[in-house]
Amino acid sequence: MTIQTAIPVSVEWKDDHIRLLNQQALPESTEYIELTTIQDVYDSIVTLKVRGAPAIGITAAFGLALAAQGYETSELAEWRAQLKKDRDYLAESRPTAVNLFWALDRMVQSVECAQTVNEAKTELIHEAIRIQAEDEAICRQIGEHALSLLKNGEAVMTICNAGSIATARYGTALAPFHIGKEKGIDFKVYACETRPVLQGSRLTAWELMQSGVDVTLITDNMAAHTMKTKDIKAVIVGADRIVANGDTANKIGTFGLAVLAKEFNIPFYVAAPLSTFDVTIESGEEIPIEERAPEEVTEIQGVKTAPENVQVFNPAFDVTPNEYITAIITEKGVVQAPFAEGIQMLFSE
Ligand code: MRU
Repeated sequence: MTIQTAIPVSVEWKDDHIRLLNQQALPESTEYIELTTIQDVYDSIVTLKVRGAPAIGITAAFGLALAAQGYETSELAEWRAQLKKDRDYLAESRPTAVNLFWALDRMVQSVECAQTVNEAKTELIHEAIRIQAEDEAICRQIGEHALSLLKNGEAVMTICNAGSIATARYGTALAPFHIGKEKGIDFKVYACETRPVLQGSRLTAWELMQSGVDVTLITDNMAAHTMKTKDIKAVIVGADRIVANGDTANKIGTFGLAVLAKEFNIPFYVAAPLSTFDVTIESGEEIPIEERAPEEVTEIQGVKTAPENVQVFNPAFDVTPNEYITAIITEKGVVQAPFAEGIQMLFSE
């Protein structure tokens, strides 16, 4: 029996514009905004109205398709030059999630064989729609593979939001909870609130409640005590970039959870599509880590919580070294250590 659940979706292509769930407004208001220019798309990514590696990639793909519809020229070479400029503009929006560059490059490649500007314009829209549809199917597969590692009724911890609204649908780390719910398999999810911008409390708690998943919110500094006292059987997180040796960049705080999980002998799983891998990089040391505005640390939702002019360090991501990771769950199956070999296999098949 399949139970119908209300899994929220964040990005939609609407004929000539993008309809986006404004994740900044959640959970107080479920507000959709219309993106009609490439600047709107850039701004939405920078200000986290859309966030989460696959959703950033999908939105950027639609953004490039949107921009390219408006180029006036009928000269293909000139049209391609403008496309490349806009590709580079959107690529500047955020540095860590590799899905952004993966999606933009796939979009540019998709029009390599086009014979006319009109053909190329249509192809870009089709390619963005394909990227989104594929991501939904991939997230479903990730969720099914993740379910093979978890048992009905278990308590599982997560951080940030690697959910439906961070992807085309279902999410990566949250996919087993959504799909489990459809199949009558229940989990007790502990969501870390995820300071500084609260993706865990504002987004994950909201999203899982929408689909009826049993979710309990904790602050980030409650993780060790919760692992010790609440019989946590697994930690599952998403990823922004996984490199050739399995080192994984994800939301700041992920590395801390991995260290704790090792101490408590709890399996630590990373769930991500192949589009989140960057095998051009050998080790996590080389991953660019975004640093964001100090106000994200000195304020909570616009309310000051720190003295004026205090020095702030605000990295948005950290890198979990591969030795802390039990397994990486992809659409092609579960990869275990040694990761370098397993990851190479993923890309050679
Ligand atoms: O800064 P964010 O909210 O974009 O960070 C998101 C994360 O770290 C997610 O875990 C990651 O992108 C995976 S989303 C499926």
